[in-house]
Amino acid sequence: AAIVEHTFIVSQVNMTRSCKETLVTVVNGQLPGPAIEVTEGDSLSVHVVNKSPYNITIHWHGVKQRLSCWADGVPMITQCPLRPNHNFTYRFDVAGQEGTLWWHAHVGCFRATLHGALIIRPRHGASSYPFPKPHVEIPMIIGEWWDMDLVQLERNMVDGDFRDNPTAMTINGQLGDPFNCSGIVKDGFVLDVEAGMTYLLRLINAALFTEFYLKIAGHKFTVVASDANYVNPYTTDTIAIAPGETMDVLVVANAPPGKYYMVAVALQTPKPDQQLPFFMTSGMVQYRSGHSHNNGTTGHHNVAPVVPELPDQHDTITTYYFHGNLTSLRHPRRPQVPVHADEYFFITLSDGSICRHGRQSCKRSGSNESMLVAAMNNVSFQLPATVAAPLLEAHYYHRNNTASIGGVDLYMLPNSPPRVFNFTDLSLVPSGPKEAQLEATKKRMVGRRFRHGTAVEVVFQNTALMQTGSHPMHLHGHDVFVLAQDHGIYDPAKDVAKYNLVDPPVKNTVVVPRLGWVALRFVADNPGLWYVHCHFDFHMIMGMDAVFIVDDGPTVASILPPPPDDLPNCNHGDNHASN
Ligand code: C2O
Ligand code: CU
Repeated sequence: AAIVEHTFIVSQVNMTRSCKETLVTVVNGQLPGPAIEVTEGDSLSVHVVNKSPYNITIHWHGVKQRLSCWADGVPMITQCPLRPNHNFTYRFDVAGQEGTLWWHAHVGCFRATLHGALIIRPRHGASSYPFPKPHVEIPMIIGEWWDMDLVQLERNMVDGDFRDNPTAMTINGQLGDPFNCSGIVKDGFVLDVEAGMTYLLRLINAALFTEFYLKIAGHKFTVVASDANYVNPYTTDTIAIAPGETMDVLVVANAPPGKYYMVAVALQTPKPDQQLPFFMTSGMVQYRSGHSHNNGTTGHHNVAPVVPELPDQHDTITTYYFHGNLTSLRHPRRPQVPVHADEYFFITLSDGSICRHGRQSCKRSGSNESMLVAAMNNVSFQLPATVAAPLLEAHYYHRNNTASIGGVDLYMLPNSPPRVFNFTDLSLVPSGPKEAQLEATKKRMVGRRFRHGTAVEVVFQNTALMQTGSHPMHLHGHDVFVLAQDHGIYDPAKDVAKYNLVDPPVKNTVVVPRLGWVALRFVADNPGLWYVHCHFDFHMIMGMDAVFIVDDGPTVASILPPPPDDLPNCNHGDNHASN
């Protein structure tokens, strides 16, 4: 195993995308940022040099960080943010997982431009892939372009103001059609292919707000892995990918040579009072002509590119079945599903509007007097703006952050008591045991503590107060088995029978369907403080988050090594993105 080193210089550069120049915060001047490639078992050292005017952390999305929670990159939880003109080296091993993961900033909305692929190859090389060896591998990051300042966007989110939309959608940082600059139609991201060859696309959804459908005219995809876990090959003409997820898909260039549009369409659930814009972006799959390799031009450019049938932007069923069709491949790396759970949690995901300034009544939602907040089991989580030390450090040294309330171990954040609202509205969810489940939401979700080795079952229940879409729920530090999903309200009496305990997909980001639920299990076997949150950035910022503590005894210190010496300190006041 090797030590792989990277230097990430975070700085602001001018980029021209939507017909105008914008100052964007990126790593090493690139958008997307550099792809990290390692072999399973390697150690990574990423030296982050913050030349931007913002506080930054980098999270290694999906990396388990076994015994290295300090490198997880969650502001205030595992580290204090890296302030301008400071450096920090993230050091961790990438072991026991292979496939496509990614890295992204975990402060505010900077994930939109601070992101890149993290590719883990098998120890014995590409020939040990459990699928036909591709000729070419390409990371393909689907994201958003924001003309608006990302710090302002974060402020609006914190302020419960949900009216901002991205300017455009992107593939590998390119806008493509239909974004049309002064009449020049651009191809966007171009994938040059050669007839007969197989391409492994390592798809990553880095968007803040958007779940996507991806299609390529005239071609099919075979999904072979998701979230760095192999799946049984699944062939489809439409990929559904939610923020935070990755999908490894094979595409065979077996169509008649020519040009084919690839399109990423933003999935948008209609909101009662909002007419949402249609968002999509396109790229191009372009066949190299057999003989003319001269100056990079291709033949067939006189033939109009083939357009795929566009997915419906309001179609929430295709993503439901897409995710339901994923099963894990039998493979030496496949972990064992826990046959029973030691602890069980029912968690509602909801959001609602409250009055600002604690007023008793305010005008209808959407007026200036109300603000949106999101919650898990009716608790809206807030990252503290200032702490003396990251919570992991406080916990490690057994400082005074833990409390037991009503017999339930709660991890109290400095801004306790938690903000509690009654946002669980199951009235729009078609069927199920409402009363019992409402009772279950009284287990508050700011934090939860597990003894190392506990098999945990979580049922995420989507609700319907304001939000009518899905929630891609992401757990740090662990992969989870996705046992079942369905529409309606979860009913333990009958829904347990639907569990797949044979080959459930193994994921780090689990899409909780619109008006439905997902049941998952994981073994809390990694000591540390692990963030669990919706990967829609606005839900995360508005409070759909919690912290899972995994320890053994009074603190994590009995298993977790001490913090690295250069861990940033917190003693310079405000630690929000903007200083
Ligand atoms: Cu990809 Cu907590 O994030
Ligand atoms: Cu959400």
